[in-house]
Amino acid sequence: MQPPSPPSAITLLSSFLFLLSLLWSFFLFFQWRQRCHHHHHHKLLPPGSMGWPYLGETLKLYTQSPNTFFSTRQKRYGIIFKTHILGCPSVMISRPEAARAVLVSQAHLFKPTYPPSKEIMIGPEALFFHQGDYHSMLKKLVQSTFLPSTIRGSVSEIEQIVLKFLPTWDNTTINTLEQMKRFAFEVAMLSAFGGGWDIDKERIKHLYQCLEKGYNSMPFNLPGTPFHSAMKARTLLNETLIRVIQNRRESNGEDQGGGLLGVLLRHKDDNLNHLTDSQVADNIIGVIFAAHDTTASVLTWILKYLHDHGHLLDAVTKEQEGIGREILEGKRGLTWEDTRRMPLTSRVIQETLRTSSIVSFTFREAVEEVELEGYIIPKGWKVLPLFRTIHHSPDFFPHPQKFDPSRFEVPPRPNTYMPFGNGVHSCPGSELAKLEILVLLHHLTPTYRWKVVGDDEGIQYCPFPVPKRGLPISVTARINKTKL
Ligand code: HEM
Repeated sequence: MQPPSPPSAITLLSSFLFLLSLLWSFFLFFQWRQRCHHHHHHKLLPPGSMGWPYLGETLKLYTQSPNTFFSTRQKRYGIIFKTHILGCPSVMISRPEAARAVLVSQAHLFKPTYPPSKEIMIGPEALFFHQGDYHSMLKKLVQSTFLPSTIRGSVSEIEQIVLKFLPTWDNTTINTLEQMKRFAFEVAMLSAFGGGWDIDKERIKHLYQCLEKGYNSMPFNLPGTPFHSAMKARTLLNETLIRVIQNRRESNGEDQGGGLLGVLLRHKDDNLNHLTDSQVADNIIGVIFAAHDTTASVLTWILKYLHDHGHLLDAVTKEQEGIGREILEGKRGLTWEDTRRMPLTSRVIQETLRTSSIVSFTFREAVEEVELEGYIIPKGWKVLPLFRTIHHSPDFFPHPQKFDPSRFEVPPRPNTYMPFGNGVHSCPGSELAKLEILVLLHHLTPTYRWKVVGDDEGIQYCPFPVPKRGLPISVTARINKTKL
């Protein structure tokens, strides 16, 4: 047996370097802990754990489901706790009054914040990313496009889209989420551009799909990555939209056409300046983005809940049949007034929004040191109102796991129900979303039945929570319309 050889200079050097890096890591770790715990030693940070240096609790957030992540911490620390996710010290809150403070009464102290990659992808001039005058000017324009008094004129166009889609599902197996995305995209395009415009819809749709694939991927802008393809699609989408914008500006004089695009193009500020082409394009892209995945995910959940609760499906069907036989016979179209006479169906939508809470939380950032619930939130920390946790609290919604639309026969306690957010950045599209769901259910429930294919219970994030595999269903005709 050979005697062990003496350690070489290289081995010694690498051991030394290893020790040094270990010491350095300890030093950084303690410094970081110090900063987290004692930065505001005279005032209290919320309770909670900041996890590992740099990584924080990000891995835990991604390895558990977000719901488990929130609920275990809420049980351990209470309705406000600190954590460290996605590289940022963060505070999560699940007390309705605290969420209201962040989103409404002290909204000026909390600005919206998104990862830079998302901002580039949607367009930096879109309203989501702004506060103050620019945001409120745009918000008024977007809101005016989606007010009930404006969208009531779109009922028959939305109905036409529904009637185009439904027969293609007959006697086939469909992926609910995919189909609902296609449907909600058509409605979003209608609201963005107005009806009757000769725009290259297929091209815009294709570019959007590329954009979406990269939107939720790792933001590495290297050739071959989905992020890179998405960035290329974003450039092409921008070029296409700028062409549409310029055509409308040139050919239409004062009119400028319908939809959000028309509203944005007609706007002039006090000095009679118009919005720039890129301000218009970023906001059109942003609104289509905000409008279709959200609505499609909610529609997918509705089909799942109605499938699982046969008595509710029967009751909704009855309500829809009661709206008017002539509509189902194709003798007249659905009207805005008809859609106001669907109380049970509306409660099913409300309960679906609560149970599925597809926008589980939102992000804000403290613009200065703020006191909240007796704790200090340092400047630059992220603050996350947890909508889902509030929606699933037994204090506000007894037996929260139960799908029970009747709970909305009385209005929920103020600030406990926020599927569309709250305050300055709340959703301007809530009425449109509800309207398109009502129109679809009006034609779907009396005419078709569906069965979930496979027994995959569970949730998948794409990026909103949706039933596993997008809920494959087989659809069959319920009655033969000609025999009505
Ligand atoms: C069921 C479907 C929908 C849900 C659940 C939903 C939910 C939300 C929520 C929670 C917010 C607030 C986010 C925050 O505070 O950070 C929001 C904002 C927004 N939503 Fe929706 N939304 C839906 C459909 C739509 C539709 C159909 C449109 C467009 C017509 C739309 C356009 C927007 C826009 C533009 C914002 C940003 C508002 C701002 O920053 O001021 N959404 N949405």
